[in-house]
Amino acid sequence: MNEILLQIDGKEVGAREGMTLLMAARSAGILIPTLCHHEKLEPYGGCRICMVEVESRGSTKLVVACVYQVEKNLVVRTRSEKVDRIRKMILELLLAHAPDAPELQDLAKEYGADKDRFEKEASFCIHCGLCVRYCAEVKKKNAVGFIDRGIRKEISFIPEIASKECWNCKECFPLCPTEALQAAFVLTRALYTSPLSNKNGCGDTYRGQQ
Ligand code: SF4
Ligand code: FES
Repeated sequence: MNEILLQIDGKEVGAREGMTLLMAARSAGILIPTLCHHEKLEPYGGCRICMVEVESRGSTKLVVACVYQVEKNLVVRTRSEKVDRIRKMILELLLAHAPDAPELQDLAKEYGADKDRFEKEASFCIHCGLCVRYCAEVKKKNAVGFIDRGIRKEISFIPEIASKECWNCKECFPLCPTEALQAAFVLTRALYTSPLSNKNGCGDTYRGQQ
């Protein structure tokens, strides 16, 4: 397969066709922050924190590094005024939902994001989809999913599946950038194992952002 040469942060980088900018940057030891990316999962492009600036044929644009594929002679900047501004804004929006998430706080420090800029709507889930996609794509169990849409979108463990599959798995737990997943699981287990629960239908949901 032909090697594609591009430039990332002033460094010449060789990449294989089909690689994303994120993969190419990582292979060259260049860090791009991610919140919804996982190497075992299909590219998703949900959180947008990995946005970078690319320059091609005289024009520049912002692209999502975890889904955008490498191109010959592309000039990529992983930090620039525009990139930092957009990451700051994304973080401020996410922090309104999960103000205490350590991963978000670390990034907020790096980008000077103000966690109080937007009115708090602490739902704790930032809809990165890592838990849902990992369970579906890697474990093939679909024990956790999104229900509803828009502002009502929530993650939910499916009790009938979770009661058989999750207790001894929990591989999705360390993937969650907030506390939302663990909290939803604990609540689901409490409801499901409660003597008052209807064991055939007591799903728990955890409200998240739009
Ligand atoms: S519960 Fe955690 S891992 Fe799952 S979508 Fe929400 S933030 Fe992401
Ligand atoms: S890591 Fe690229 S969009 Fe989330």
